[in-house]
Amino acid sequence: MFYQDWGFERSPFQQTSLPADEVGSRLLVGRDQQVDTLIRRIEDAPKIAVLEGLNGIGKTSVVNVAAFRLYKRFTESKGPLYIPCRKAFQLDSDVDLQQFIDAVLVEVAQTLIAKLEIIELTHDGSSIRALDKWLNSPELKSFQGGLWLVQGGMTVNSNPGFERAGFRESILRVLAELFPDSGMGGVVCCIDNLELLQESSKARMLLEQLRDQLLQAQGLCWVLCGALGITYGVVSSPRLDGYLHRPIELKEMDKSFAPAILDSRIEAFASRPGPYLPINQSEFSDLYSIVRGNLRTVLSYSGNYCQVVADGVLPVTVKEKRERFFAWLNAEAQSAYDAARTVLTPRTLEVFNKATSESGTFSPGDYETFAFSSTQAFRPYIKSLEDVQLVVSTQDDTDKRRKTIQITPKGWLVDYYLASIAESQVQPSESADSDRP
Ligand SMILES: Nc1ncnc2c1ncn2[C@@H]1O[C@H](COP(=O)(O)OP(=O)(O)O)[C@@H](O)[C@H]1O
Ligand SMILES: [Mg+2]
Repeated sequence: MFYQDWGFERSPFQQTSLPADEVGSRLLVGRDQQVDTLIRRIEDAPKIAVLEGLNGIGKTSVVNVAAFRLYKRFTESKGPLYIPCRKAFQLDSDVDLQQFIDAVLVEVAQTLIAKLEIIELTHDGSSIRALDKWLNSPELKSFQGGLWLVQGGMTVNSNPGFERAGFRESILRVLAELFPDSGMGGVVCCIDNLELLQESSKARMLLEQLRDQLLQAQGLCWVLCGALGITYGVVSSPRLDGYLHRPIELKEMDKSFAPAILDSRIEAFASRPGPYLPINQSEFSDLYSIVRGNLRTVLSYSGNYCQVVADGVLPVTVKEKRERFFAWLNAEAQSAYDAARTVLTPRTLEVFNKATSESGTFSPGDYETFAFSSTQAFRPYIKSLEDVQLVVSTQDDTDKRRKTIQITPKGWLVDYYLASIAESQVQPSESADSDRP
């Protein structure tokens, strides 16, 4: 792997969410305030914390780090016991809710089992041991798609007391024993990416159905995450009124944080002092501005660029690195533009330019701003842009003004391309870096 030759243990540009551990906590830059807010909300369970923010902006990382810092506080001071659940959950539109509940509770049980040693410092772990014995017994082959599969075709009923209902009862009892009161901790669980449900009405309906059996279960501290305004649609549900906190909105961080993000990754993953990268802070920061602080995109583009550079002669000086990076980025931007070109009729382009010149977020109800006479007249243009992934959207039937359409990172790259050709027509020698509006 070329990163090893460059002096890294692994890629510093991994795009996975920061994990709920010491490394994740260390790599999280510029979000202490949001983490603290989220921690206070988690401590306020059973009321549910909600996080809103565009895909790639850092929601899951903030949840993981908040859960980890709560856990760490326990290990250091023996305050209330909070444990980050081993994985986050997602709802899709054809989810079987009963299977979903089982899947969550199994994961919660495995989380408790994995942390048994820590739990037993302050709590009685015998009921967790009993769960472990059953859940991880050799007879129980696996838990797949919500079905209890037992080796040799025997049903779970042959394990007395531990059929589906029995399992649920047991794990819920264990949770209630460990966390007898709200404020006494719990397993921090997350339903992530609610925007995948597309419609806020769908998300609302599913969460309403999960409310009593899962979201209010004692000993579970829930965080819901979503993008494109979907969480606002969810919190407007009368049946969830009083159960959910107002969404914490994660916005892009200021460009001034970009260098620290790069540096902390270099430091965390370097295998020797002074590792090599073909990208400097200034290019990383410029890229950060171009895609409006979408960290996942910044990391993935940086990684792609490194991959390409690794195949050729490595740029050495600051100037070489900068030229090489922008040559690569401009080519990427041009091919993003070329791919979208078919739909970019003059009117569609006008819509796109209007959207990018404002905040990049808008709603079908903004048709007048875009000089259309109705939402119906506006919609086909949004659809075209969506087809070539320059914008993404969700649907919200509760509030037509809610901003549910957003320029994607690819859209910002096309915007950057358009700005650079416009600029080169005016002043060919000027650099084409686009600053945020
Ligand atoms: N505050 C931060 N500091 C450093 N890296 C971050 C920060 N927030 C997110 N990241 C990184 O950005 C990427 C996207 O973050 P993630 O939490 O998965 O976003 P989201 O859940 O909003 O889609 C991940 O690779 C993550 O490691
Ligand atoms: Mg996420």
